[in-house]
Amino acid sequence: MPDTMELKKKIAKLKKQRNAVILAHNYERGDIQDIADFLGDSLELSQKAVDLDVDVIVFCGVHFMAESAAMLSPDKTVLLPELYARCPMADMARVDSLRSLKQEHPDAAVVCYVNTTAEVKAECDICCTSANAIEVVKSLEQTKIIFVPDKNLADYVARNTDKQILPWAGCCPTHNQILPVDVQRAKSLHPMAEVLAHPECRREVLDMSDGIFSTNGMVNYVSTSESDEFIIVTESGLLHRLNKENPYKKFYEVSTYTVCPDMKMIDIKAVADSLENMKYVITVPEDIRIKAKRSLDRMLAIKRKI
Ligand code: 13P
Ligand code: SF4
Repeated sequence: MPDTMELKKKIAKLKKQRNAVILAHNYERGDIQDIADFLGDSLELSQKAVDLDVDVIVFCGVHFMAESAAMLSPDKTVLLPELYARCPMADMARVDSLRSLKQEHPDAAVVCYVNTTAEVKAECDICCTSANAIEVVKSLEQTKIIFVPDKNLADYVARNTDKQILPWAGCCPTHNQILPVDVQRAKSLHPMAEVLAHPECRREVLDMSDGIFSTNGMVNYVSTSESDEFIIVTESGLLHRLNKENPYKKFYEVSTYTVCPDMKMIDIKAVADSLENMKYVITVPEDIRIKAKRSLDRMLAIKRKI
């Protein structure tokens, strides 16, 4: 079995041969973050997928991210090294139920978090990510908004806009399990630290934080903040990047179990296999791709705030 060094060499060689890049989400394993050409949040990675002039994108993230890249860049081959790396929240929204809800509220606009399947995106008016959800919702002329699938992000948007939000009942299992008691414990251990939370967390947790950001929002905030210590209330993979980019600052996990198992599925061997055997190619049926891409394009047209 080849060792990590050999696998990394193999990846570098195959990347050249295939004219490929590696995109990785901020929650990926540390060694995957280290070999990535670009690291980012959902919004930044979608934009990168469009802008890059390459033949192959190896997407180290979860299925909906690779799917979005494939829909935005149909001329590129998008590979997801581990087919079972999916977002459980994305799988909580079903097209048939969404269609029924739309029929009940024909006057509502439909906003879907990017953490949805292509089929669901095809049923929506516009997508959003955690970095731009408030701006996206504010940009719509309708006052009533069906918001799919994250009830916590929906609540956060409702509190920061004057729209009537009809939330879906989904949530991210990793963020939703973080409780006020976890934040309280971390705060008592690190009383000087600023608390930064992701909007997929419950309202009670967000109310205890000093700032609410997407993962890239946290990366940017930390680099300019005068504070030296931070409690990071999101998936623990982000700490690798924060520690690496800010060697003189201290970062604390809110709890030891804030891990998304799907975001940890891809390892170095899977990336090497993916590039060698061109697997797994992510494609979307053309009729769905065209409709879903419209929702993604509308989102990308709205300038990023953070
Ligand atoms: P962001 O990196 O866009 O904040 O996404 C969070 C997330 O949970 C992605 O699955
Ligand atoms: Fe989905 Fe949550 Fe994992 Fe992100 S952290 S991929 S929202 S389950």
